[in-house]
Amino acid sequence: MKDWMGKIRTLSIFSFLVMVLTACGKDNLTALVPKGYGAEQSFNVIIISILVMIVVFIVVMAIYIYVVLKFRRKKGQEDQIPVQTEGNKTLEVVWTVIPILLLIIIAVPTIASTYDLADEGEKEDSINVNVKGMQFWWNFEYANEEVQTSQELYIPVDQKVYLNMLSGDVIHAFWVPSISGKMDVSPENENTMYIQAFEEGVYWGKCTEFCGDSHSLMDFKIVVVSQEEYDQWIDGMKNTDPEYTAQSASAQEGQQLFNNNCISCHAIDASATNPVIAPNLADFDNRTMIAGIEHYSKEALVDWIMNPGEIKPGNGMMDAEYLDDEGMSTISEEDVEKIADFLMELKATDEPVDSVKDFREQEGQGN
Ligand code: CUA
Repeated sequence: MKDWMGKIRTLSIFSFLVMVLTACGKDNLTALVPKGYGAEQSFNVIIISILVMIVVFIVVMAIYIYVVLKFRRKKGQEDQIPVQTEGNKTLEVVWTVIPILLLIIIAVPTIASTYDLADEGEKEDSINVNVKGMQFWWNFEYANEEVQTSQELYIPVDQKVYLNMLSGDVIHAFWVPSISGKMDVSPENENTMYIQAFEEGVYWGKCTEFCGDSHSLMDFKIVVVSQEEYDQWIDGMKNTDPEYTAQSASAQEGQQLFNNNCISCHAIDASATNPVIAPNLADFDNRTMIAGIEHYSKEALVDWIMNPGEIKPGNGMMDAEYLDDEGMSTISEEDVEKIADFLMELKATDEPVDSVKDFREQEGQGN
């Protein structure tokens, strides 16, 4: 009976692990398929550590099995006490030195990559982005370009990009598992790191420091593009117009509503330098997602504006005057649709970059 219980327990632990581990299998959200320099360095150290552990496990188990078989009590020797090896200097030295050597094998690449990843030698000649984490979104300011954007950090493939990170409120942490390690984003000290991506694509970022109601929804993306696409995008962003006039009739009415209700917090041009209080909406129509977590569609955008607290509880938009005490929009759904039409006209380039198009397709989104 006991034997069965043990087997069932082992089996259930294994099936639980299989379920948990396979659920982590988002291609663009895993440290196990590194697509950037920092992630690759971490991955290498993980592999070295696991190899060392496997060797230790095999050697220890082999000795264990050998000892159990060889020195087990035999018939007729029940009263014999084996030779005692307590205080054996050679053995003490051997099993002290071996772990030290193993730790050195792990420490050398760990320390080397720690220093390597903190290197700022190329910072001055590289792209610098001031990252600001806020409840529950991210602002990215391209320091040498007078370009500001939110939620989606565009970087050219293979280039080192230096991030200078600060929080606008509480402590957050910046993590894009496929690209790099984690970094705390504090309101007091500026933390810096560089990222370098090897492959074009959209990579999922997460806040990994508990920061409030919607901490787990504080998602962002790194959009890795070709150098050419990057230059075009930066160029487009520089030319986003604060005086933009909506095209369609519905969007024109939407713009009027936006100007009356939203523009005091949300800028529509990337060159805006006013203090960052809410996500910059330049290039909105080329976004991967709505609010960082909802599939990109007009429907999702309307839902978001109608009741943002339902989607991201406790977010900063809850203070907006157009929301009533319950957090519901006092602007009618019909009018919110017009605001959505206006926002979906905002773009820095005619269409999304290839990475974003692919991402939207994979996520099964329309538009
Ligand atoms: Cu920001 Cu958790």
